[in-house]
Amino acid sequence: MPAPVAWTLDHLTADEVAVPAMRRTIVGLYAEVYAEPPYLRGPDDTRLWDDEVLPRHLANPGFALVFARHGGTPMGFALGTALQPDTRWWSGMVDPLPARMTREDGAQTFAVYEFVVRKPYRRTGLGRAMHRALVGPWTGPRTTLTLRPSAPAAVAFWAAQGYRAVGFSRPDPAGPLYTMMLRDHEPPR
Ligand SMILES: CC(C)(COP(=O)(O)OP(=O)(O)OC[C@H]1O[C@@H](n2cnc3c(N)ncnc32)[C@H](O)[C@@H]1OP(=O)(O)O)[C@@H](O)C(=O)NCCC(=O)NCCS
Repeated sequence: MPAPVAWTLDHLTADEVAVPAMRRTIVGLYAEVYAEPPYLRGPDDTRLWDDEVLPRHLANPGFALVFARHGGTPMGFALGTALQPDTRWWSGMVDPLPARMTREDGAQTFAVYEFVVRKPYRRTGLGRAMHRALVGPWTGPRTTLTLRPSAPAAVAFWAAQGYRAVGFSRPDPAGPLYTMMLRDHEPPR
């Protein structure tokens, strides 16, 4: 088990993430961690995320990002957004869920979209702390995410954070299959 390294968790606003140096750091973490199996994302995937996906997240009024660092050394980040009424989050379900489960209004469900801890800092509790920091302020009743069933660390990690599988999703018909995970959330008092 790796020796724990002290961490600082920063909650960043969309404007703070958009500052070029910070954005380069976040995109660098994305590229480094998602290059690993089973993701195997390459420079084209990273460019697409930076150019098209990240701007959509930054424009979401329910955007949240937790940046983990040891002094000036980045350790990881977690990004999520509130699901808005026009979300396509549930549209890739292999077996569609009942409409009452997939109706979103911006206040019901917080979706964790990206979650990366750099290799040397894993199994030290950092992921658990990042998740708590990311969803802690959420005032709605549930949080959700998708995971790759072929990523054993992610499967074990999200089960340990209290998520349960509610089916499978294939958002891109040519892309991989994901397990759709849901968790009841205790809003802050
Ligand atoms: C999944 C990931 C975020 C976990 O982060 P982490 O900082 O190592 O997680 P933690 O140390 O907080 O682990 C918390 C608990 O999750 C479980 N867990 C985490 N990694 C595990 C692994 N490799 N095998 C088994 N259980 C694991 C354990 O129950 C662990 O508690 P314990 O160490 O006291 O036994 C990290 O492995 C990672 O970034 N992987 C690559 C990117 C990725 O898959 N992201 C998720 C996308 S859905």
